[in-house]
Amino acid sequence: MDKFVANIEEIGYGGEGVCHNNGKVCFVKYSLPKEKLLVEKIEEKSKYDIGQIDTILEASKDRTTPLCPYFGICGGCDFQHTNYKNELVIKKEILNKQLSRNGHNIDFSVVASDKDYFYRNKIRLFAGDKALGLKKEKTNQCVEISSCKIVDQRINKILPILNKFVYLQNLQFLINYIEIKTQNEKVLINIFLKKKTTYDFSILQNITDCELGLFETINNQTKHVFGLNNISINESELNYIINPNSFRQINSFIANIIYKKIIENVENKTVVNCYSGAGVLSGMISLNGAKKVYGIELGENEHNDAEKLKENNNLINLINLKGDCAKILPLYAKKADLVVIDPPRNGCDKKVCLTLNNSNIKKIIYISCNHATFVRDVKLLSKYRIKEIELLDMFPKTANFEIYSVLEKI
Ligand SMILES: C[S@@+](CC[C@H](N)C(=O)[O-])C[C@H]1O[C@@H](n2cnc3c(N)ncnc32)[C@H](O)[C@@H]1O
Repeated sequence: MDKFVANIEEIGYGGEGVCHNNGKVCFVKYSLPKEKLLVEKIEEKSKYDIGQIDTILEASKDRTTPLCPYFGICGGCDFQHTNYKNELVIKKEILNKQLSRNGHNIDFSVVASDKDYFYRNKIRLFAGDKALGLKKEKTNQCVEISSCKIVDQRINKILPILNKFVYLQNLQFLINYIEIKTQNEKVLINIFLKKKTTYDFSILQNITDCELGLFETINNQTKHVFGLNNISINESELNYIINPNSFRQINSFIANIIYKKIIENVENKTVVNCYSGAGVLSGMISLNGAKKVYGIELGENEHNDAEKLKENNNLINLINLKGDCAKILPLYAKKADLVVIDPPRNGCDKKVCLTLNNSNIKKIIYISCNHATFVRDVKLLSKYRIKEIELLDMFPKTANFEIYSVLEKI
């Protein structure tokens, strides 16, 4: 494939540098604006090409040395080659471009994470030939690792122990993947098995150095093997548990800032919380002055956790509804003063947006982890306009971030 000299002009929506080669756009990962590079074209598409850095001819003043030896190999991080201040500038530009391209000319602030490395409270590890590792982006290839620089250090402490345990006993052939979650130095490990085994995983109990709960999952059935059943948390007077299998925000610092912003809006209101997960946000809304809260969640594990949270905190004004928001919201929209939406990356169901357009609800708080589906949904929510928006960096070192927005009826 050919090589060409390129000047990086700006950053694209996925965090890649954008340049032109003979008039055609080319995206170059791990490059920065104003850099002069020798780029190798590695893929040709009809409307654009994909290039990779061959040589940095003139580096940006904001270029830094990545902390992680797997940066650029595992594909999990996009921004270890620049300092955190510049990463936030880039993210602000990405959201700004996305908003103005869609007709929203609105200024917004950016909230940084307390940590830009070692912040993730969860990892999913796959079994490589010789060690556990991460799946290389868009491939089935396992990049074997000895540590990950964006996960909590508690996970990094247990990783070599797990690696030794799995590979000394040749257990890698049994394992689909392993999920580790942590909080307050406590750890939950869930081993997803390919097939039934008589292997006794309780041996792990004797070789780890932390408070640990071990689970094994096969065909969607999770069994507790030993130790902690869950991790219990008390935050802003709410007691809740972290389970091995239910949804949890991966950056607790940023999640808590978002929760606090939302609860400022709920006094005396009937709130419908769409895509409510394990009920932490609904619980906080319920505890902080809302008249009534309806949480709508599709996942069975998440719904069950939300029910336990309601019971443990005696939240009589909280109703957890299990099912699809597209089907359940129309039944409750009439009762609501405020709707809070926090959908997965693929955004809201079109029917959710149409239900809201046809309702009398004056205010929506929309939390999004995907700016592309956020602007798509705001377009569908044609009876609303963005009144307030903020970027919160839930996912440092990656091109993703969280959006907090308040939409008001036109
Ligand atoms: C981003 S999480 C929300 C998390 C929650 N707000 C919290 O802070 O813990 C999105 C949730 O939407 C749920 N979900 C996905 N599709 C859904 C649907 N069609 N209807 C209801 N819930 C859905 C997922 O199971 C997941 O728990």
